[in-house]
Amino acid sequence: MADNEISLVTGASGFIASHVVQQLLEKGNDVHATVRSTKNQKKIKHLLDMQNRWPGKLTLFEADLLVAGSFEASMKGCSVVYHIASPFPIETRIRDGQKEVVEPALKGTQHVLDAVQKCETVKLVVLTSSVVAIFGDNADVLEMKNKTLSTEYFNTTSSVTHNAYSYSKVVAEKEAWKLHDAQPSPKRWKLVTINPGLVLGPSLSPTSESGSLSLLDQLLRGQLFLGVPDMWFSIVDVREVATAHLRAAENPDSHGRFILADNTTHGFVEFARILRSITQSSRIPRNKIPNSVVRMSGPLLGLSQKWLKLNLGIPFDIDNRPSLDQLSIVYRPLEETLADHYSSWKKAQG
Ligand SMILES: NC(=O)c1ccc[n+]([C@@H]2O[C@H](COP(=O)([O-])OP(=O)(O)OC[C@H]3O[C@@H](n4cnc5c(N)ncnc54)[C@H](OP(=O)(O)O)[C@@H]3O)[C@@H](O)[C@H]2O)c1
Repeated sequence: MADNEISLVTGASGFIASHVVQQLLEKGNDVHATVRSTKNQKKIKHLLDMQNRWPGKLTLFEADLLVAGSFEASMKGCSVVYHIASPFPIETRIRDGQKEVVEPALKGTQHVLDAVQKCETVKLVVLTSSVVAIFGDNADVLEMKNKTLSTEYFNTTSSVTHNAYSYSKVVAEKEAWKLHDAQPSPKRWKLVTINPGLVLGPSLSPTSESGSLSLLDQLLRGQLFLGVPDMWFSIVDVREVATAHLRAAENPDSHGRFILADNTTHGFVEFARILRSITQSSRIPRNKIPNSVVRMSGPLLGLSQKWLKLNLGIPFDIDNRPSLDQLSIVYRPLEETLADHYSSWKKAQG
C-alpha cells in the first residue's frame, strides 16, 4: 500500500481495531475510523489521544452495522477497508443469538461491502473473521486432516442456538466471500480474511467488552478461584493480529484466509498458572476443576451438556504456516502476552 493512500477501519473503539489504527498511524498512513458515536468521549478517548499525537492523520466518522448506507461517507477516497466491527460477547451471556450477534455481524458485513461496491477507490477489504468461522466445537477439529485446524474448512456445526457467536462469524465471512466472488471480472477489490484465535494482550481501548478481555477479567478478579475448567484455546497476541491486518495490505500477493494463532492450543490452567506467577495472587487458581464437577455445574454456568462433551479436555494443533510464510508474523511467547495483558488491565483498574 502506498504511503499517501487512506485506510478505513471499522469499530475503532474496539480492542483489536484500536491496535490496527495505532499501527497504521505509526506507519504514517492517513486513517478514517468509524465508531458508533463520537459523543461518547469515554469510549473514544484513546482515539482522541491518537488525533493529538498524529495531527491531521486520523478522522473519526459515526457508523452503525445495522444501518444501511452508514459506512459510505467514511469510505470516500479509501483504498483499503479493514472491517473489524462486530459484537463479541462471551457466549454464555448471549440471550438472543439472532439479534445480539448474527444480525449485526451479517448486516454489518453486507452494509460495509455494499459501500465497497459503490466506492471505486477501494482495492482491498481485510475482514476480521475468527478461528470460530472454521470450527464450532473443539471436537470438530478432530475430524479435520491430521486433527489440525486449517483454513480448508468452514464451521458447519454452529447455529443460532449452539455457539451463536461462532455462527455469526461463519455467516459473515461466507457472505463476504459470496459478494467478493460475485464481482464481474476483472475483480476490482480483493478480499483477505484474518481468522484469529482468542486474542489477548494490552488493551488501548478504555471500555472494550470484548469476550477475550472479559474472560481474563474474570480470572484476574479472582472469580474463578476454585479452579478453571479443562478448556483449550488457540491464542494470539493482539499486536500480532493488528500487524497481520497491515501486512495483508502491504503484501500484494497475500490472498485468502489467514489463521492467526500459535500452532497448538493452550490450556486455561496454563494461563491461570502463568498469571498467578506474574500477579502473585492466590485468588488465581493453579488447578483444573475435574470434568465430572464441571458437567454437574454446567447448567448453572450456562453451559449445555452437549457443549461440555464437545469441548472439555480437547486440545488440538493449528496450521498457522500461511501467517508465517506470507505475512511474516513472529508470534511472541504467551508469557509476554499475559504479562502485558495484566499490566494494561491493572492500569485500567486505576
Ligand atoms: N478478541 C478476540 O479474541 C477475537 C478473536 C477472533 C476474532 N475477533 C473479532 O475481532 C473483531 C473485534 O473484536 P474485539 O475483540 O476487538 O471486540 P470489541 O473490543 O468488543 O470490539 C467490537 C467492536 O464492534 C463494534 N460494534 C458492535 N456492534 C456494533 C454496531 N451495531 N455498529 C457499529 N459497531 C459495532 C463495537 O463498537 P462499540 O464500542 O460501540 O460497542 C466495537 O468497536 C470482531 O469482529 C470479533 O469477532 C475477536
